[in-house]
Amino acid sequence: MTSGAGSQEDARPALLQDAAGRAVRYLDQLRARSVPPADDAVAALSRLEFELPTGGLDPAAVVALLDEVGGPATVSSAGPRYFGFVTGGALPVAQAASWLSTAWDQNAGLSVMSPTAAVLTSQALRWVAGLLGLPAGTNGAFVTGATMANATCLAAARDAVLAGHGWDAAGQGLAGGPPVTVVTGSEVHATVRKALGIVGLGRDRAVELPADDQGRIVARDLPALTGPAIVCLQAGNVNSGASDAFHPLIGWAREQGAWIHVDGAFGLWAAAAPDLAGQVAGVQAADSWATDAHKWLNTTYDCGIALVRDPATLTAAMQASAAYLPGDVATEPMHLGPQSSQRARGIEVWAVLAALGSDGVADLVQRTCALARRFAAGISAAGYPVLNDVVLNQVVIDFGDAQRTDAVIDAVQRDGTCWCGPTTWHGRRAMRVSVSNWSTTQADVDASVAAVLRCAKSPLDA
Ligand SMILES: Cc1ncc(COP(=O)(O)O)c(C=O)c1O
Repeated sequence: MTSGAGSQEDARPALLQDAAGRAVRYLDQLRARSVPPADDAVAALSRLEFELPTGGLDPAAVVALLDEVGGPATVSSAGPRYFGFVTGGALPVAQAASWLSTAWDQNAGLSVMSPTAAVLTSQALRWVAGLLGLPAGTNGAFVTGATMANATCLAAARDAVLAGHGWDAAGQGLAGGPPVTVVTGSEVHATVRKALGIVGLGRDRAVELPADDQGRIVARDLPALTGPAIVCLQAGNVNSGASDAFHPLIGWAREQGAWIHVDGAFGLWAAAAPDLAGQVAGVQAADSWATDAHKWLNTTYDCGIALVRDPATLTAAMQASAAYLPGDVATEPMHLGPQSSQRARGIEVWAVLAALGSDGVADLVQRTCALARRFAAGISAAGYPVLNDVVLNQVVIDFGDAQRTDAVIDAVQRDGTCWCGPTTWHGRRAMRVSVSNWSTTQADVDASVAAVLRCAKSPLDA
């Protein structure tokens, strides 16, 4: 192994160029390869589980091992026919910006540590808020994903509603303070519940409002709320893609004096697409919004975004002061979010937005939704029911009873043309399809539909 700093520096150009070459070759074969890895490639991962060497290996050999053993056992989730969960691929400009940003290795927690990261972070946040039509003055933080974005917004919400009732939750915690009423829909995403647990409001104590057949909160017979209250709404149900009716729900929540939070991990991006903005009409009237860039915006992992209408509520919950730290809590990223040291996630978001422009973002969102409709049409034409109204990029497909549906999903995953996962929705076992990748084409959808139908015909032989 090359141990001295000098020799490592000498080896650096060749090492990085070798890694870049390997990465480009990996990306180039994404479209052609089976989406899940082969069993023997997964079995070969045991080659990475060796005793920690005392002397260390040659860095070039380490990179080769990663590429040659790790690469083949990856899932091609960055490729065009991965329809699992809600998974974007990384646009080439995101990938390139990420490589540069990795080379810069900036800590984006404070502007004094990286003027570049500070400018790109705040510009990217302004662009995101503008694209989504959020109120002037909205600010926030880049975090790891929508789960942490929900937790970040809910921490601000918790402290703000309690401050409104005379209780300093940031200082004193929750014990002894007035109880906070939390309202969600019955189809709230699991990670909002998790976030409620993280911020001490409890995973299981929310008042759950009933949802309709698409998972939207039924905006009728809404309860009166007293005391500090937070209402969690949803842009983009993880199964159906449907969004809550924001106009009536936010109107009601405002009358109750509640803080209104929206989990819009992917669905919020409908606001950036003129053809789809109606899906989330009125969402801008909320107080906070959680979304992801690593899903539909197709940036590299990991990148969630927490946004609040009144950034002072965020800094009240997130600021940390010490004599050696710059004290400008209103603008410094470490005082606007849960992380102090942090990856400069805004760099990739800035790069993607600069390269796509607002038209490009709208096209990405609209194109993937059109592909989801094409997927659904191909499946329904063969006689299999699509359980949701395909209003966004999500499709939920029924292949009969649970056993048969699971057998079809298993056959699809073994076939390898595409990857789709299971769900249980309104008591039905079903297959979920999420079209979220920038590189998916009509041909990819047609090949995937053909594979799914082949597997559905005789799942046990496929
Ligand atoms: C509606 C919704 N909220 C939150 C999340 C969690 O996002 P993340 O995995 O980025 O934390 C997801 C993930 O699919 C989601 O669909």
